[in-house]
Amino acid sequence: MAEEERRFTITRRQALVAGGVATAGAGAAAIVIATSGDDEDEFPRLSVAKLGDLQPNEPVSFEYPLEGQSSVLVDLGDEVPGGVGDNNSIVAYSALCQHMGCDVQFVSEGGYMLCPCHQSKYDPAREGNVIQGVAQTPLPRIELEIDGDDVVAVGVDGLIYGYRENLAPGARA
Ligand code: FES
Repeated sequence: MAEEERRFTITRRQALVAGGVATAGAGAAAIVIATSGDDEDEFPRLSVAKLGDLQPNEPVSFEYPLEGQSSVLVDLGDEVPGGVGDNNSIVAYSALCQHMGCDVQFVSEGGYMLCPCHQSKYDPAREGNVIQGVAQTPLPRIELEIDGDDVVAVGVDGLIYGYRENLAPGARA
C-alpha cells in the first residue's frame, strides 16, 4: 500500500469515532475516509449452543471472544431483560468473576451465578448484577443472536476481568 493510501486507511472503530466528530462539527470540511477491511476490532460471530439442545437452567460453558475467556450460557426458562430465543429467556455472561477472575458457576437450584473463591453472587436474570459479596461490577454480558437453530455470540457488553480490552491479547475462540 502506498504511504499516501496508508495515511487515510483507518479501522472501523476509528471511522465511527471520526463520524461522530464530523457530525458534532457540522460545517467543517468533509473528510473522505476508507476502512481498512481488517477485523481486529470486530467481535467474532461464534455459534455457542444449539437451541434444540438447551434445557432450562442447565448451563453451557464456552470460550468467547478469545480462547481462555470462559463464559456461560443458560436458558432461564422465563423472559428476562435482554434474553433471546422464543421465550426471551437465554442469556450468557463472562464467567470470569469481576473481583479477582475466578470462574463463576451457575447454581440451578438458586438461579444465580456463584464465585467459589469469595462467594460473590450474580443474578443472570438481572443483567449479571452483583447480589452479594465483594465483587463491585456486573458480569460482562455476552451478546447473543439466534440464527436458525444456533445461538450465536456476537459481542460483549462490559470489560472482561483481567483485560484492558476484550479482544487482546489472545487468539479468537
Ligand atoms: Fe470471585 Fe473473589 S474472585 S469473589
